[in-house]
Amino acid sequence: MSYIQTEVLPVDPIQPDSALIEYAATLIKRGELVVFPTETVYGLGADALRASAVEGIFAAKGRPFYDPLIVHIADEATLPEIALHIPEQAHLLAQTFWPGPLTLILPAGPRVPGRVTAALPTVAVRMPRHPVALALIRAAGTPIAAPSANRFMHVSPTTAQHVLTDLNGRVPLILDAGPCEVGVESTILDLTSKLPTILRPGGISLEALQTILPQVQPPQARTHQTETDETGQKSPGQLPIHYAPSVPTYLYAGDTQAVNTALLNEIQRYTEQGWKTGLLLADEDKSFFHNSGATIYTVGSAQRTAQVASQLYAGLRSLEQSGVQVILCRSFSSQGLGLAIQDRLVKAAGGKVIYVS
Ligand code: TXA
Ligand code: MG
Repeated sequence: MSYIQTEVLPVDPIQPDSALIEYAATLIKRGELVVFPTETVYGLGADALRASAVEGIFAAKGRPFYDPLIVHIADEATLPEIALHIPEQAHLLAQTFWPGPLTLILPAGPRVPGRVTAALPTVAVRMPRHPVALALIRAAGTPIAAPSANRFMHVSPTTAQHVLTDLNGRVPLILDAGPCEVGVESTILDLTSKLPTILRPGGISLEALQTILPQVQPPQARTHQTETDETGQKSPGQLPIHYAPSVPTYLYAGDTQAVNTALLNEIQRYTEQGWKTGLLLADEDKSFFHNSGATIYTVGSAQRTAQVASQLYAGLRSLEQSGVQVILCRSFSSQGLGLAIQDRLVKAAGGKVIYVS
């Protein structure tokens, strides 16, 4: 694709300037792309009801057309324009979790282009809670289709700088409202299956969903084959390698003490080969690696999953850019937001998980 000048405009995250939002909305109305902040990660937006606009998203990201997009709305009243046969469960969940990091899979309405849904009979919809996202959707007067604003298969962006690294020269405008609050993507919940089932864990935990709908099912373990099968898969974007740094990444699981000892041995082994190692750790692990020579990024206390989630992608991107030849990550508990954190770490590692005991 041809090079276009990328403009980065700072915007107040709480009270966005209305002239700036109008300007960005004009681009959306013209069928162009705008990168905007959400509470989860930055999104690469286009008019969701215009196929030609949506095609621009796939071109800018280098994303294949079989990977469907989430439609972002600013008002629950818009939902019937996007989805059909909306069950009572959807309203219950929307009342509790919207605006917020929950995406619902529902039967697609006729106005949604096949480019958005990858020709599936279903559509993904969410109402983000970031004031800039909500203001942009309202000013554009149309729902906005938006994937995470990274190059296909790369780590999602949680700052405007991350977006620039991936999309400079490929998008006309980035609205920079500072770092995203949640830091991992929305939870995707399928309401078209027999029981509501999580397809991608994210910013709303399984436990929180179950307080409203006790029958919500955790993500189903899928085999490698079904994950890569383009026709049979339920959530086509959920490829086994996704959200991944360009540096080989390994995830270590098991008892923290044993994991730390194993990591230290690995660092030594890599050092002997002349390789530099990057480490993604919790604050409390740091002192153990004091003299290891590794490049360390800490994502906060392992006890504070919200903090870990918000730092996770910045950590992976920072280690990737630090000149190391390999990245080793510790794992975290899978309670609450931890389920999403663990899922993204497994994907960052492309499934290369080492179990230590
Ligand atoms: O937090 C988020 O969800 C962010 C922000 C920007 O809203 N968006 C995001 O979009 O993560 P994306 O495109 O990177 O991931 C959306 C995933 C797709 O990869 C696909 O797996 C799934 O949503 N999806 C979309 N439509 C679907 C459908 N009809 N059925 C099943 N899965 C679907
Ligand atoms: Mg993505």
